[in-house]
Amino acid sequence: MITVLRNGMVTISAIKADIGGYPGHHSVHPELIKTAEKKLLKAKKDKTLIDFRVLACGDDLQLIMTHKKGVDSKKIHKLAWDTFIAGTAVAKKMKLYGAGQDLLADAFSSNIRGMGPGIAEMEIKERKSEPIVIFMADKTESGAWNFPLYKVFADPFNTAGLVVSPKVSKGYNFEIFDLHKKKKVIMDAPKEIYSILALIGASERYVVKRIFSKEGEIGAVTSTESLHEISGGKYIGKDDPVMIVRAQGAFPALGEVIEPFAFPFLVKGWMRGSHHGPFMPTSFAQSTPSRFDGPPRVIAAGFQLANGKLIGPVDLFDDPSYDRARQKSNIVADYLRMHGPFEPARLGLDEMEYTTLPDVLNKLKKRFKSI
Ligand code: 13P
Ligand code: 13P
Ligand code: MG
Ligand code: MG
Repeated sequence: MITVLRNGMVTISAIKADIGGYPGHHSVHPELIKTAEKKLLKAKKDKTLIDFRVLACGDDLQLIMTHKKGVDSKKIHKLAWDTFIAGTAVAKKMKLYGAGQDLLADAFSSNIRGMGPGIAEMEIKERKSEPIVIFMADKTESGAWNFPLYKVFADPFNTAGLVVSPKVSKGYNFEIFDLHKKKKVIMDAPKEIYSILALIGASERYVVKRIFSKEGEIGAVTSTESLHEISGGKYIGKDDPVMIVRAQGAFPALGEVIEPFAFPFLVKGWMRGSHHGPFMPTSFAQSTPSRFDGPPRVIAAGFQLANGKLIGPVDLFDDPSYDRARQKSNIVADYLRMHGPFEPARLGLDEMEYTTLPDVLNKLKKRFKSI
């Protein structure tokens, strides 16, 4: 059945959480996917959702939903929360690792933001043809999207459209969050690319939240929830962010959107959220961080939207053209692992604040004498 969108608007909500790993922090148990699918199917039947897919990236359960309720809808957020709670009950029965890991609030109030799960949502007027890519990551933080977003929307060496398409060459506006100061700024690419890079090169603090065309159409949105912040500084796990990107027309082409991942750039996360590692693009099936709980993984699910229905997904990195990126990731992983606990393979002390290292250092405090 084809749903006709009354005002032509549709919302895509990608909400994710780690509600238990299997084994350790490796993957999502199939029973959790089944549980989530059951919940969301019910919501589709009662017309809360137009459509949905349940996917997994590493140990993170991914709810991809379309609906007409706009971003930050209480009903949709509660549905996601209830789905994670139902999954956690199943995870607890199997004693999965860290069952309910990312659910950091006792009860749902009005919005899932600040409760642990990661959220990326956009409300759009569906175009004549609406290709989208949903990127999902495991064992890293939200700043991991800065590098590819810059490449896709601002770098002509990545995106041919910035040079050859009159629609794309107008450039884009970047909305950047300062996660430490809780401020945001909108900056113009290409006019301000050097200043944009001055900020987003520091990906632990400045993260790209949204990207807009010069006409104000949203082109990309990321999840920026930070687990250590929500938990008050305790190490829970990594944020393992998600991102939605629209492709073609006024936006970069699909192949331009996934091109940056042919280079496995370094991200923060990996073992105990404490290391730099190469961001390895994999198929859905191989998004299973094994070696040293990694290396960090990224998957890309391609869809066409049709009146809010999700046509897809296509597993975009399940392709030989990403083999070399995977090989390179392994070479980089070998090299970094040789450093063991030494910086800069291990994160700097500032970033280790959010791990369990301070507990170890505290124990040594009394042993220090003045010099
Ligand atoms: P545990 O100390 O419970 O093993 O947790 C550490 C962790 O999750 C890093 O993988
Ligand atoms: P997750 O954030 O994926 O649960 O991983 C935590 C961790 O400590 C891995 O070593
Ligand atoms: Mg985990
Ligand atoms: Mg994870």
